[in-house]
Amino acid sequence: MSPSTDFEVKPLPASFGAVVTGLAPGGRIDDAGFERLYQTWLEYALLIFPGIHLSKEEQVAFARRFGAPEFELAAISNVRSDGSVRIENDSDDVIKVLKGNMGWHCDSTYMPVQAKGAVFTAHVVPSSGGETGWADMRAAHDALDPAMRARIAGLSARHSLHYSQAKLGHQAKAGSEYSGYGFQVKDPPLRPLVKIHPETGRPALMIGRHAYGIPGLGEQESDALLQELLDFACQAPRVHHHHWAPGDAVIWDNRCLMHRATPWDMREPRIMYHSRIAGDPVSEFAAPA
Ligand code: OGA
Ligand code: MN
Repeated sequence: MSPSTDFEVKPLPASFGAVVTGLAPGGRIDDAGFERLYQTWLEYALLIFPGIHLSKEEQVAFARRFGAPEFELAAISNVRSDGSVRIENDSDDVIKVLKGNMGWHCDSTYMPVQAKGAVFTAHVVPSSGGETGWADMRAAHDALDPAMRARIAGLSARHSLHYSQAKLGHQAKAGSEYSGYGFQVKDPPLRPLVKIHPETGRPALMIGRHAYGIPGLGEQESDALLQELLDFACQAPRVHHHHWAPGDAVIWDNRCLMHRATPWDMREPRIMYHSRIAGDPVSEFAAPA
């Protein structure tokens, strides 16, 4: 049997996002079907595939169809390799990264080239909490009042993982591979507050927890502006949280959505896998400030 071209798309009750059903096992899809899926992704920015149960290899292969990897597969998990669970009070680097993920952000905006997107899958989920939320920065931009749009036109912010993790009391430890990623960037990239999507041409707010230090503004003014934009942006109907079941997969567009994890009782295990799709250096590169 050839992989199916057919799938159904059910939009979420939000400004973005859709649930996709009917893909063949393993996410296999022929080229014509994939083209339609890719266009659906560009339109909705978040696609949710309930109960698709991708193996690790299938996840990596599926992600690769959307673009070359920034990294192929990383466990986002509070379970150690010996099976024991890291609890909230642990002060280890993994917990700090997991807590960092609970603030609204885009991935790898602190890198010279920000990510294009991610395929993210659930393997073990807590009985409550531990959802993932996304927020539509296209709709947020479009809903700004004209005075605010004029105020932010031409402004940029630095993006730094040092900055965002230091706010949570997390300094990088030498030799920690898990939290080392992104800490090596010494000169934070400067990214416009409004990003034009390279494929759709739509403007989107580019903010989130890694952003700070708008050149030309004082520290307090910059912090206040970024907070005001974040508070405005991350409200209904621009936000959707997914309550995970094991086997669910999603793909999000990191060029126009922010995301975050929601807290859970960390005595319960949560194991997710993240395949990060690399941004295009032509459109996702930002020069150091
Ligand atoms: C990530 C992330 C959120 C979550 O993996 O980049 O932000 O729900 N994850 O675990
Ligand atoms: Mn993330």
